[in-house]
Amino acid sequence: MKVIIPTDDEYRQVLGAFCSGITVVTTAFAGTPIGMTCQSFFSVSLDPPMIAFSPARTSTTYPVIRETGAFAVNVLSDHQSWIAGQFARRGVNKWKGIRWTAAEITGCPLLDEAIATVECVIEQEYSVGDHFITIGSVQSLRTDPAKRPLLYFRSQFSSLAS
Ligand SMILES: Cc1cc2nc3c(=O)[nH]c(=O)nc-3n(C[C@H](O)[C@H](O)[C@H](O)COP(=O)(O)O)c2cc1C
Repeated sequence: MKVIIPTDDEYRQVLGAFCSGITVVTTAFAGTPIGMTCQSFFSVSLDPPMIAFSPARTSTTYPVIRETGAFAVNVLSDHQSWIAGQFARRGVNKWKGIRWTAAEITGCPLLDEAIATVECVIEQEYSVGDHFITIGSVQSLRTDPAKRPLLYFRSQFSSLAS
């Protein structure tokens, strides 16, 4: 069997053809809100309800999320690309201009205007290459049917044609 080993650029170009939504994964550490932008969010199980995201080993935010044992996935709306950009930056105040409320069960920040939020406790973590896969057991859910999602395709933010 022929095995093709792609360059990093080829890999990113091909995988970038997979269009997705964008999330900000948040937690509260000793009362302080913490968060990071994540494309790698997916549903794993319906019964029981479980979801996953995939944080990089190099993330400085993820070890804090792991320590709290809980997180919220905030699925961003089409007008929130600035939030995706802000939460992808290290060494800035990621929470500047961000309005949020604490989730009922875990206290994790739920961002105002998100199209959907999923509150979770950490169930399992797998180490995979240069990332982890973190499985969350769903504690609460909500969505706003009037909102439209932010999309990510070939390294660009986009929205659905109306
Ligand atoms: C569109 C987009 C999607 C991203 N998806 C992920 C992801 O799935 N997993 C991840 O670890 N980092 C992802 N990042 C990068 C993190 O948001 C970023 O490295 C992090 O927030 C900053 O580093 P910190 O964790 O040390 O604060 C993404 C960034 C962008 C702009």
